[in-house]
This record gives sequence, structure tokens and C-alpha cells, in this order.
Amino acid sequence: MYIKSEIEKKLIDKNIRLEILEETTSTNDYIKKFSNLDSAVVIAKKQTLGRGRLNRAFYSPENKGIYLSILLKPQLETKDSVKITTFTAVAVANAIEKVSGLKTQIKWVNDIFINSKKVCGILAEASQNFKESKLDYAVIGIGINLYGKDFPNEIKDIATSIELESGKKIDANLLVVEIINSLYKINNEINGDYLTKYKEKCFILNREIIVDTGKEKYKATALNVLDNGALLVEKEGKTFELDFGDVSVRI
Ligand code: BTN
Repeated sequence: MYIKSEIEKKLIDKNIRLEILEETTSTNDYIKKFSNLDSAVVIAKKQTLGRGRLNRAFYSPENKGIYLSILLKPQLETKDSVKITTFTAVAVANAIEKVSGLKTQIKWVNDIFINSKKVCGILAEASQNFKESKLDYAVIGIGINLYGKDFPNEIKDIATSIELESGKKIDANLLVVEIINSLYKINNEINGDYLTKYKEKCFILNREIIVDTGKEKYKATALNVLDNGALLVEKEGKTFELDFGDVSVRI
């Protein structure tokens, strides 16, 4: 599925340490051993303990998806770390569009959808330097359903793959290169305007949503995504910011 030399040859950042593994528990955990480097990428053909947001498992069967983590040192203060989430979602959505020709959408916070079904999840984790209120490093985990038509029962109604939507078997090496290069460019223009692009792609805005915070579930209207990455919602005449949790829309 992967050819290391093919990927390395096309990367803009020639200093990235790239490792491709047959199997690991979670690439987000494995990559932490490279935290002394400026940048690293770990890709696994299979994960045995792939994880998603809110402690959910991420389905990671062998050679069906891209399971990739990137370690970066963004020049960001801790309070701005949520920018990592918005810029990654935009970068990955652009990369998928470029190689597949399909239109992507973003569901706050960082799920990428094609034709109303989830094709990619992103799990960003940051290690902070408390003394300087800066980020030491960020680990961005990206899971993409690339091939395959069969999903487990729990996700078969909400998940899709790029192959299923495009009818094409996209070359995994190509997509990996696009994602890494796209993130590299955005990371170098860290104060650029991703939020506008993010909002253009965010399909839940001005719609009724169901919010699930893990503790409670309620209906609200999604109004806006703010600079700090929070979702502005309205519930029973009151407007407030949502910092975490899961949202869904009826389709
Ligand atoms: C989500 O859907 O909530 C996020 C899913 C993130 C999955 C990726 S796969 C590569 C990396 N390693 C993990 O264990 N998770 C992320």
C-alpha cells in the first residue's frame, strides 16, 4: 500500500522523519517518541487500539484506511491551540478534494464528510510548556476511510469511504503526500485565515443540531464558529459557546 521512497521524494519538507509500520496500537501514541524532532510522520497499515475523540475507538482495519499521525511544533500559544484543529480540518479536506475530485464538508469540530457521511476523523493532541504558556509540540492524528464498502454495524449508516463515493481506488501514497504538504504549508502560515474556509465547509451552521456533551443531550441551533474554535449555539433563546462535545444534524 505504501512506498516510503515515493512519499519522501514528493515531500516539501525534506527534514520530516517518516516511519511506516505494519501495525501499532495507535500512531498518536507511537509518534511521541519523536517529540525531540521538529517534525515527524508515522503511518500504520493497521491499528489495534485506534482511538477517536471522546475516548471512542477508531475502526482501523488492515490496508483499508490511512492511519497517520503528524508531529509538529507550531508557533502557537497554548490559548490558540484550537487553531490546530481548524487548520488541520481545512488542510485534509483540501487534500482529499485534490486527489479524489469529490466535494468535502466539515462537521464541527473535525470530522470530514462526503455526501453526508463521515470519511475522516481527526484527533489533535497538544503537549504544553506551562512555564512559557506555549505549545511544546502537537500530535495530529488523521484517520481516513480510503477503501472498502463494508463497515461494522455500529457505523455502517454514518460512515463511507473515498472508494465508495468516487468509484476509484485512490493511491494511498498520493493522498499521504498531499496531506503532509498541505499541513506543512498551513503550519508555515500559522496566522493565515483558515476560519473563513472552515466556515464555508462547515455544513451545520444555521441548522438545528443535537448536542451530546456526554452528560446531556439537547437540541440547539448552530450559529457560528468563533476565532477560538468554539461553536456558538442558541438554545431556548439563550446564546452560548460550546467548547467540546459531539453534534449531529438530521438529514
Ligand atoms: C475521531 O473520529 O474522533 C478521530 C479519529 C482519529 C483517528 C486517527 S487514526 C491515526 C491516529 N491514531 C489514532 O489512534 N487515532 C488517530
